[in-house]
Amino acid sequence: MDKKPIKIMDTIFRDASQSKIATRMRLEDILPIAEKLDKVGYHSIEMWGGATFDSCIRYLNEDPWERIRVIKKRMPNTMMQMVIRGQSLVGYRHYPDDVVIRFVEKAAENGIDIFRAFDALDDVRNLKTVIETVKKVGKTAEGTICYTISPVHTIDLILDKALQLEDLNIDTFCLKDMAGLLAPYTAFDIIRRLKESLKIPIHLHTHDTCGMGAMTCLKAIEAGVDIIDTVLSPFSEGTGQPPTESLVLTLKETSFDTGLDLNLLAEVADDVRDMRRKYKEFDTDLGGVDSKIMVTQIPGGVMSNMIAQLRQIGAVHRLNEILEEIPRVRKDLGYISLVTPTSQLIVVQATLNIVTGERYKIITKETQELLRGGYGETPGPVNRDLQKKALKGKQPIQCRPADLIPNQMGRFRGELKGITDSEEDVLTYALFPNIALDFFKRRRDFHPTLTNPKELPAS
Ligand code: CO
Repeated sequence: MDKKPIKIMDTIFRDASQSKIATRMRLEDILPIAEKLDKVGYHSIEMWGGATFDSCIRYLNEDPWERIRVIKKRMPNTMMQMVIRGQSLVGYRHYPDDVVIRFVEKAAENGIDIFRAFDALDDVRNLKTVIETVKKVGKTAEGTICYTISPVHTIDLILDKALQLEDLNIDTFCLKDMAGLLAPYTAFDIIRRLKESLKIPIHLHTHDTCGMGAMTCLKAIEAGVDIIDTVLSPFSEGTGQPPTESLVLTLKETSFDTGLDLNLLAEVADDVRDMRRKYKEFDTDLGGVDSKIMVTQIPGGVMSNMIAQLRQIGAVHRLNEILEEIPRVRKDLGYISLVTPTSQLIVVQATLNIVTGERYKIITKETQELLRGGYGETPGPVNRDLQKKALKGKQPIQCRPADLIPNQMGRFRGELKGITDSEEDVLTYALFPNIALDFFKRRRDFHPTLTNPKELPAS
């Protein structure tokens, strides 16, 4: 039989830290583990992007750019991967093209090898600037489509978007199942169709929230997938990815043998288990299988936030009505995915529709912006009556949203004169102006933050 070693990306320093311990993993805990994982033989390790940037400056008092450089030194043999929210980079709104281009250039220069770019609406136009810049600086561009379930989300739609991404010269294609909804046999069908049509390697990202993760990965491998995301066992399962060691063992001595060093993985897993205990305070893991997700399609993190917010306004008894309203709002908004930042948008609008006693009595700024076309083109058509009401007679935009945002790097450089002249700092400020100024001040004075997990009792 022909050999086809499956390549593995471990999500330990990004997705797993974000899904399980609220992105609080500190650099000093990452480094000794990174050094050992460098010898395992991974395809790549995800260690930047998503919420890590925000968390570094907001909670950890760490420079996110320094994090790339230092990990690179300890992990010189393994490709470093980041996840990037298209035109929103690692923030929550669309940034001008000059900020996007400079951000990608600087991330590459500091050490990122692979850029996984996704867009909440899967509007390929929102990925164009990122992908073109990644290609220009000679790094690996991974184009991504989010997996979700709705009447408009067919395999043909995924395929169509994947081909649009291939036209942008991406190096690999990723199917991103952020909520863990992808069932094993569906994965088989989708991956087989993608393999028939695309010439580039295919990467699968899933979560184990519904308990299907490992089975989904295995069926995807049988259908021809090339790269799989897993995480070292102490951060695996539940809202994390399926465990790396189990997949390595499953494929051992088959034509898919990963070649990863299982003894070394077991040794590092012990270290990681000890390390995770330090972050008990931030542990958001409920453990086990959450099949409610299957019905509601609401990612675990969103659900726990929603319940906390309903408690605050004394409306937790309306939870079931809100859960029933969510699919209706999603339909009105063109079946957008529940992924950052559209998940928050849907939940807030559905909650208002129930607690005010009248649907769309209040239309949030974000819902208006979506209906205006400000996030891009929705997968399905939006409710036209609602759109008219929200835009009050104004016409929605048809172009790529960033086409209407003027370049701003010059202004940001000017605003930071006398504070810093580092381009990395200018980018940090462009993304999170208020938090960045506060962070620069703390970095100068170096007052350790109160959220330092090391100051918490380790038990
Ligand atoms: Co994920």
